[in-house]
Amino acid sequence: MHKLPTLKSVKNFDSVAILTSGGDSPGMNPAIRALTRAAFNSGISHVYGINRGYSGLINNDIQKMTSRSVTNIVQRGGTVLKSARCLEFKEPNVRQDAAKILRDRGIEALFVIGGDGSMTGAHLFTEETGIPVIGLPGTIDNDIPGSDDTIGFDTAVNTALEAIDKIRDTAQSHERLFLVEVMGRNSGFIATQVGIACGAEMVVVPEYDFDLRELCLTLAQRRATGQGSSGIIVVAEGKDPGLTNRIAYQLEEQGQNPRICILGHIQRGGSPSGHDRMLASCLGASAVSYLLAGYNDIMVGVNQGSIVDIPLRRVITETKSLNRHLFDITTLLHK
Ligand code: F6P
Repeated sequence: MHKLPTLKSVKNFDSVAILTSGGDSPGMNPAIRALTRAAFNSGISHVYGINRGYSGLINNDIQKMTSRSVTNIVQRGGTVLKSARCLEFKEPNVRQDAAKILRDRGIEALFVIGGDGSMTGAHLFTEETGIPVIGLPGTIDNDIPGSDDTIGFDTAVNTALEAIDKIRDTAQSHERLFLVEVMGRNSGFIATQVGIACGAEMVVVPEYDFDLRELCLTLAQRRATGQGSSGIIVVAEGKDPGLTNRIAYQLEEQGQNPRICILGHIQRGGSPSGHDRMLASCLGASAVSYLLAGYNDIMVGVNQGSIVDIPLRRVITETKSLNRHLFDITTLLHK
C-alpha cells in the first residue's frame, strides 16, 4: 500500500489536459481515470484528453473529458487516449506552437504519462512556456530515475512469467534449452525480475557481460549428473538487434540445440495487474494534489512505498541502475 503525500491546495485551476506518450503500458488507463476523476472532484471544471501524445497536441487533436468518459476503463490495457512517439516535439518552435494551442483553449496545466523521452518533452515544454506540467512514469521498462516503480512494469513481468511457465513445460519434455527474449532496449529490469521469478538458468541484460561458455558447462554437468538438460535463458532485447539469434548461434556451436521465443509486444498489452491499477490510481490522484499545491516541473513516483515528487530535470539527467545484488540472485539460485 502506498503512503500518499499530505499536501495543502494553494492554487486554483479551471482547466487541465492529459496525454499518454511513447510506448504504451498496462495501467495508463487507470492513470487517466484517476487524473480525470481527481481533477473534477478537486474543483477543476474542465479536463481535456489529448489524443496520440505530443503528436495530438501539436495537431490540436483534443477532446473534452467527463467523469463518465473514464467509466469502465480501469481494467483495460493500452490507453484510451492512444499513444505515439513524436519527433517534431524535439523542436523548440513546435513546443511554442503547442503552448499556443493549449492557451487558446484555456488549458492551464498538463499531465504527461509516459517514459523517459516523454519526461524530457515535458520538462522542456514547461521550462520554455511556463505552462505547469506534472509527469507520471508510464513504461513497462521500469527504467525511470527517481521512481522505484513504473506503471505497467508489474503487468509486463506477470505476462512474461505466464508465457515462460508454459515454455518451461515443453522445454522439460524435450530436454531443450530456450532463449526467451523480453523487452528492455536499454535496461534489464524486466529480464532480471522475470529471470528470478521463473527460475531462469541465466539472465542476459544490457548492463552486464555474460559468459556463455560457463552456461554450457553448467548444462553439460547437469546432464552428466542426470539432473536434466532443459533450461530457460532470459535475454533482454538490448540495443543491438539480433542479439538473441547470435546467442543461439553460439550455443549451437557449443553443441546445444536451443529454441528461441521472442515475447515482444505481448508484454505491453493486457489488463493491468492489481498492483499497476493501484499504482496508477495513487499516482494519478497524487499528481492532481501536487498541481493544486503549486508544484510544477515534477514527476510523481514511488520511493520506498511513499508517493514522492521528483524534479523532471533529475528524471531526465540521471540513469536508474540495475540493482547488482538483485541481478546476482539470478545466478545464486540456479546452482
Ligand atoms: O515501452 C518500452 C519498450 O517496450 C522497450 O522495451 C522496447 O524496446 C520499445 O518499447 C519498443 O517500442 P516500439 O515498438 O514502440 O518501438
